[in-house]
Amino acid sequence: MFSYCISDRHRLRLLEAHHAAELFALADANRDHLRNWLPWLDLTRTPADSLAFIQSGLRQFADGRGFIAGIWIDDKLAGIVGHHPIDWSSRTAAIGYCLAESHQGQGFVTASCRAVIDHAFNTLELNKVVIRCAPLNGRSRAIPERLGFVHEGTLREAEQLYGRYIDLAVYGCLRREWDGGTLT
Ligand SMILES: CC(C)(COP(=O)(O)OP(=O)(O)OC[C@H]1O[C@@H](n2cnc3c(N)ncnc32)[C@H](O)[C@@H]1OP(=O)(O)O)[C@@H](O)C(=O)NCCC(=O)NCCS
Repeated sequence: MFSYCISDRHRLRLLEAHHAAELFALADANRDHLRNWLPWLDLTRTPADSLAFIQSGLRQFADGRGFIAGIWIDDKLAGIVGHHPIDWSSRTAAIGYCLAESHQGQGFVTASCRAVIDHAFNTLELNKVVIRCAPLNGRSRAIPERLGFVHEGTLREAEQLYGRYIDLAVYGCLRREWDGGTLT
């Protein structure tokens, strides 16, 4: 129901319970692609697991700690973008994203992030937005770099990915630095 239009082809919608089957189908069809960098694929075995993820995002939204949206391209669910729970004491949000392999390379996630970051700074009035990604995840790193974020450092062995620990590069942008992410 809640939706934000980025272009004729591209829209963000709050993920709701009735999207669970479509979300599971997206994860299942992109399991190998997403499993390279995201830790939750082995925990996503049935549509009920996708429903639980959506419900946890809706609780986060109801608690005023940010939202999880689907990325719809040509009326098909193709990805996810949203906040990790906002830290209001520091007015900081980390954002995360993923996209179907078949839709990569067309700027959809960069544009989705730009909309989420605009909203974070201009509507929620946060002071900082952070993006964390594995140093070897070139496609993911390119997004904050394209949006003009500063590489602030690398956290060592900060995430567990299927039995191994991986580093996370941290990119940050302050409200006073945000110019709409017009770098392309
Ligand atoms: C990370 C991920 C979302 C990046 O997807 P992506 O398609 O590369 O990112 P975008 O949708 O922003 O597209 C950028 C690409 O579109 C191109 N592009 C075309 N038009 C563009 C535009 N108007 N604006 C920006 N980029 C554009 C860019 O040049 C870039 O292509 P290139 O890498 O071949 O140079 C995707 O690879 C993914 O889901 N990976 C697995 C999960 C994952 O790693 N999640 C992140 C964990 S931190």
